[in-house]
Amino acid sequence: MKQLVIKAFGDASQLVLAEASSPALAADQIRVQMHYAGVNPVDAKTRAGLGWGAQAIKDKLPWSPGFEVMGTVLEVGADVGDYAPSDRVFGLLPGGGYSEQLVVSADALLPVPAGVTDKMAAGLSLAGTTAWQGLTEHGGLKAGERVLISAAAGGVGHLAVQLAKGLGATVVALGSPGNHDFLHDLGADEVIDYRDEAALTAMAPVDLFFDLVGGTSGCSLLSHVKSGGRVVTVPTITADEVIAAAQPLGLTATGMLKHQDNQQLALLVKAVAERRLRVEVSHVYPLAEGAAAHRQIETGHTRGKILLQG
Ligand SMILES: NC(=O)c1ccc[n+]([C@@H]2O[C@H](COP(=O)([O-])OP(=O)(O)OC[C@H]3O[C@@H](n4cnc5c(N)ncnc54)[C@H](OP(=O)(O)O)[C@@H]3O)[C@@H](O)[C@H]2O)c1
Repeated sequence: MKQLVIKAFGDASQLVLAEASSPALAADQIRVQMHYAGVNPVDAKTRAGLGWGAQAIKDKLPWSPGFEVMGTVLEVGADVGDYAPSDRVFGLLPGGGYSEQLVVSADALLPVPAGVTDKMAAGLSLAGTTAWQGLTEHGGLKAGERVLISAAAGGVGHLAVQLAKGLGATVVALGSPGNHDFLHDLGADEVIDYRDEAALTAMAPVDLFFDLVGGTSGCSLLSHVKSGGRVVTVPTITADEVIAAAQPLGLTATGMLKHQDNQQLALLVKAVAERRLRVEVSHVYPLAEGAAAHRQIETGHTRGKILLQG
């Protein structure tokens, strides 16, 4: 079976298709034929040698990226009762999702419910849990509050807009003009071009700022948070900078690292099945074109999610 690997940190051209042997199956594991793997900014940052992800794998190269997948079960271990061949499964992985086949613990993945497409399931796990945990566990968002979401049209943001609306919040979404109709369709109450200083100045202050851009952008938007309000800054590389800028303003600011929670993921995929949550997949690349997918995610202007097809 083939998998996309990097042998050294570097630009997208470091991603190469390599032949790998599929491991033997333990009693509690399933073998999965990967149909789609989500492509996330963390994949590209780690490939480039940046952030916590690169620190974790720097002594374990070659490494195959891919933290979220969807596929069908090919084979089940002797002790696995919950799955049978051809069942559709999806979920989070510790890496290695850019592979034609995966061998994982049976309880790592979840079944894909009827009514959820393969592509929507593939793009949900990482962005969906980040959006949910950021808004609720870290942000404490309550009905009736105003929340500002930057990068609202991106992978995490487009799900956060819908989840925040579902929680009863008033959603202020930042995006470039080409994404404004998309953001209104997702349910955003106010949509603002983040380059339009006059529109930003006219914006009423918010209770919670869900910062998906970080750095200079995150710091400059802090002035739009009400006195005593909250900030959740999601990009880990610039979190300390945004938190340090928020504290003198009397804001409660926190960074976050999403954690695996399959109960949350089950609720999120149920929302997709019931048409209360939509995963926008803007482009699908063949596995062999992983470098092109990384170049796209590195533009910082991807709408919704992009996937690799196994
Ligand atoms: N800590 C964690 O656990 C965790 C988990 C997931 C993601 N993250 C991080 O969170 C960030 C967002 O992830 P993502 O998957 O949503 O990224 P993404 O899909 O690549 O985000 C793309 C979006 O960013 C928007 N954007 C770019 N520059 C902007 C700016 N200055 N102001 C407002 N919007 C801007 C673009 O909007 P336009 O095209 O409209 O310009 C585009 O829609 C990344 O840094 C990622 O690494 C962290």
